[in-house]
Amino acid sequence: MNKEQLMESARSVKKSAYMPYSKFPVGAALLLKDGTVINGVNVENVSFGATNCAERTAIFTAVTNGYTKGDFQAIAIAGDTENYLPPCSICRQVMAEFCSPDMPVYLTNNKRDILELKLKELLPYAFTELDM
Ligand code: THU
Repeated sequence: MNKEQLMESARSVKKSAYMPYSKFPVGAALLLKDGTVINGVNVENVSFGATNCAERTAIFTAVTNGYTKGDFQAIAIAGDTENYLPPCSICRQVMAEFCSPDMPVYLTNNKRDILELKLKELLPYAFTELDM
C-alpha cells in the first residue's frame, strides 16, 4: 500500500466521524507492518474533553486487536482543511508510545497534496520512558 492509497483510506473513513459540536471531520488510516489498515475517526462528546481524535481511535483500535509497539508502519490523517492538518499534541504523545521516531506520518490538505513527516519531527525530545 502506498501513501496515496493510505491517504484515500483516511479520506473515505472521515464520513463516519461523529463531530456534531465542531463539524470538523477527521479520518485516520494506520498501516500495520503486516499490511492491515486500521481506521479511526474523531468521536466527540457533549463534555468536550471526552472527545477522542481520529488518530487515537485508530491506534487504540489496533491495540484492541492485538497489535502493539513495533507493529506500526505509517499513519495518514485527513480532514477537510485548506492547509495540512497536523495531529494534536495528545495524539503525538500516543504515537510516541507505540511508533518508532522514524515512522512516516502523512498529512494532507483539500488539494490532496501529501506532506510526509517523521514522528520525531512532529514530537522531538519525546517522553517515552520512566527509566531515565
Ligand atoms: N481532531 C482530530 O480528530 N485529529 C486531529 O488531528 C485534530 C483534531 C478532532 C478533535 C475534534 O473532534 C475536532 O477535530 C476539532 O478539534
